[in-house]
Amino acid sequence: MDIKVSERLNGIGEYYFSQKLREIEELNKQGKKIINLGIGSPDLPPHPDVVKVLHEESSKPNTHAYQSYKGSPVLRNAISSFYKTWYNADINPDTEVLPLIGSKEGIMHICMTYLNNGDEVLIPNPGYPTYSSAVKLAGGTCREYALTGEHNWEPDFETLENADLSKVKLMWINYPEMPTGKQATVELFERIIAFGKKHNILICHDNPYSFILNEQPISILSVGGAKEVALELNSLSKASNMAGWRVGMMVGASERIEEVLRFKSNMDSGMFLPVQLAAAKALSLDKEWYNSLNSVYAERRELVYQLLNIFNCSYDRAQVGMFVWAKIPSKYKDGYELSDEVLYNKNVFITPGGIFGSNGNGYIRISLCAKKEVLQEALERVTVL
Ligand SMILES: Cc1ncc(COP(=O)(O)O)c(C=O)c1O
Repeated sequence: MDIKVSERLNGIGEYYFSQKLREIEELNKQGKKIINLGIGSPDLPPHPDVVKVLHEESSKPNTHAYQSYKGSPVLRNAISSFYKTWYNADINPDTEVLPLIGSKEGIMHICMTYLNNGDEVLIPNPGYPTYSSAVKLAGGTCREYALTGEHNWEPDFETLENADLSKVKLMWINYPEMPTGKQATVELFERIIAFGKKHNILICHDNPYSFILNEQPISILSVGGAKEVALELNSLSKASNMAGWRVGMMVGASERIEEVLRFKSNMDSGMFLPVQLAAAKALSLDKEWYNSLNSVYAERRELVYQLLNIFNCSYDRAQVGMFVWAKIPSKYKDGYELSDEVLYNKNVFITPGGIFGSNGNGYIRISLCAKKEVLQEALERVTVL
């Protein structure tokens, strides 16, 4: 059959990890037993009470119908309480919350809601690759802004202000930043909000990592005046160990929620009610839950530091989030070379920083989503490089 894919797919390749996982599968078929330290998919289970709610609710006969596009009030109230408890942000559960089937879909929904052909979007380099794919799929044009270690992984506002911003409609930001582990600060958010207001740019903050190895979770919506100009995506994938459940949220001004819902309500028909009720339970967990999670990640991080020391990489111990981002030694051309050497010679996969943008070329990223024993095995394998 002679059928061509749409032009909107031009320049959109298969997601890097989907390709790489296929290669790893092939290597495993050859008996290699690759240790994958690439992907940020939590290996730990959700809290048992969360699984219990899913089990009990899905056993009932009346929980299987289509659900409201705006989500169950139980989940919306839980999201609002979660924002108050942890971020001290006031969010109206009826009008300022939109549950999502994972925050990744929210990135696409926002781009589809606001972008016309040729509209420009500021995206971080390095940053989560989905921002640029979603912008391109929606017909927009990506304008990268540089994040560099020299500039403490913050946008260089002077450079931004000197550029022509007349076509820029959205700006994606993500703090704690993936992949660099840069923590959010109130001052940074204030600066970004002022920038968005001055140039009439909608600030889209992606916030899935605020609870991982981070004592001060911050939401951009807790900063004064943010709702006028910013919206936030959040996720249960990382801090609730529910990546496969696909639960996230968008939070922001009621007008923005209504606008995005115009698009999203044409894409899906709500979320399975027992999943929503279990997610509400997960959002109500207390500090003990996050402490238990983080004590596991902290131990693993020590082993990852050892691994990075063997590679002679340098890294900042003040990083937060689910990965360690590290600068490679100059003997390697880029992170791809180091990653390939370790994959093909030591059967360990680590992510080359270049997949997150050109400013990541001199870096690698190691995930903390591997058990201690697995990290120890990786250490043994790479000891002699
Ligand atoms: C920065 C960032 N945003 C969003 C996501 C997507 O998360 P979710 O599972 O909620 O779709 C990820 C997942 O890796 C991520 O790293």
